[in-house]
Amino acid sequence: MIKKVYLIGMGPGDKKYLTLEAVELIKRLKLFLIPGKKGRKKELSKIRKDILSAVKGDEEYRVIELAFPERKRSTKYEESVIEWRLKKLEVLKDVILREEEKEAGFLVWGDPSIYDGHIFIFRELCKEVKVDFEVIPGISAFQVLSSAHKVAFTDVAESLIFTTPRGIKKALKDYNSVLVFLDNYESYRRIKEEVTIYWGAYLGTQRQVVLSGKLSEVKEKITNLRRELRKKFGWIMELYFLKKEV
Ligand SMILES: C[S@@+](CC[C@H](N)C(=O)[O-])C[C@H]1O[C@@H](n2cnc3c(N)ncnc32)[C@H](O)[C@@H]1O
Repeated sequence: MIKKVYLIGMGPGDKKYLTLEAVELIKRLKLFLIPGKKGRKKELSKIRKDILSAVKGDEEYRVIELAFPERKRSTKYEESVIEWRLKKLEVLKDVILREEEKEAGFLVWGDPSIYDGHIFIFRELCKEVKVDFEVIPGISAFQVLSSAHKVAFTDVAESLIFTTPRGIKKALKDYNSVLVFLDNYESYRRIKEEVTIYWGAYLGTQRQVVLSGKLSEVKEKITNLRRELRKKFGWIMELYFLKKEV
């Protein structure tokens, strides 16, 4: 049985964003768990495998691709996410109980604390089986976004809010600086406030694209570009920072 799992923040999609701590750990471990992806999203599994092979070289190690289910979209969003996480927990539990290796690394995209369910899943899992886990921080996509645009998220004594599209309206009422993750529906097109948008897709990878400007002036350009890229590659990960004009 696996006794300890390391949730390793792997950065936004390229080995150059691994921390030294992550590299040393990956070098030492012999077993890795990664989410198995289907269809055109298979590339996301390949990115994880490429990172492992870049660090491990010729060393022997095993990778288990976990058959995580898709999230059901029929129920309320929050409920469906919890249900989905608990299903993932069952898949992980099965592997943890079945494996003979004592330790495993689980590669988490970006940083494990940002819009990712695995810390929750492992906290729950520890209540059910005698397994321990440790979190290794990673570079998150939002850090690559600010670097690529050469922009500081927080001006003097300002606050920054992290949100998903559901929170944009409220966030823009209360804050000048808003960072939006997980926008699959071009929600920025419905924003009425005059804001500057700093947008980026595939951040930190060789495909990285960034665009910025007054939202009203660049939103159609972003929309056309993201649609084109999504069609071309089959998936897109994008992120944007909104700065209210004051
Ligand atoms: C499930 S969340 C995981 C975030 C991850 N834990 C992190 O720290 O970046 C996925 C969302 O993060 C953002 N994201 C992650 N990696 C990205 C990248 N390389 N380029 C652009 N956005 C990215 C996108 O908003 C995407 O929809």
